[in-house]
Amino acid sequence: MTTGILSAMAQEQAGLGERLDEVRIERYAGREFHVGRWHGREVVLALSRIGKVAAATTAAALIERFGVSRIVFTGVAGGLHPSVRVGDTVVGTEFVQHDMDASPIFPRHEVPLYGRSRFPADAELTGWLAQAAQAVLDDSDLIDETTRQRFGLLQPQRLHHGLIASGDRFVSGAAESAALRASLPEAMAVEMEAAAVAQVCFDHGLAFAAVRNISDRADDTAHVDFDAYIQEVAGIQARALIAALLPLLPP
Ligand code: ADE
Repeated sequence: MTTGILSAMAQEQAGLGERLDEVRIERYAGREFHVGRWHGREVVLALSRIGKVAAATTAAALIERFGVSRIVFTGVAGGLHPSVRVGDTVVGTEFVQHDMDASPIFPRHEVPLYGRSRFPADAELTGWLAQAAQAVLDDSDLIDETTRQRFGLLQPQRLHHGLIASGDRFVSGAAESAALRASLPEAMAVEMEAAAVAQVCFDHGLAFAAVRNISDRADDTAHVDFDAYIQEVAGIQARALIAALLPLLPP
């Protein structure tokens, strides 16, 4: 079974592609796909790029060209729910496109002609991903104390499960994140890709799971927090997460 592993940006995959065993790089649809083995598992690593369409293109390529049988998405997100702090991790149980709105023809958030607004995560794959994410959060040596203090990473960093909202906007304003909370009160985090990949996997009957480490609170300083976090923390966490996940997956 080949596992596709996606992140939006290079910092969220921390150069892992080059470290695969027996790696071969294939260029397709303007993207680089690192095909190889790691921890004895067949994997294809790729960057989805940013936004729903780019992510859907990459997911479709993983499925149709590289024959992956499950897709995992890792990366960072903005915290939306009041209980979610910077440094926490959110494992997606469901995914919604917060900017999908074909009302009044279809209810707000419903993806036209699917009769649904939410796409589910695969429970088994999500269980392994959550186990790996918890192991990363429990490793107190992973992020040094100076970096922890700089980002105000409170211990313990917590693992949440719930709805992840995706849309083609970097949410960087208190008013905008408040509006999102009002329209989707149960949403834990906001980012720009997972719901699109979830829809592609749904179309193909493939297992999908996503985990997001919280880089910012999607408020007025989100862009500053995001930039620094992605440089200094995201890569370390991503490498540890993928290393913890692969041994859990059935070969
Ligand atoms: N990814 C990380 N932070 C984000 C934010 N505030 N909005 C959208 N995507 C994000």
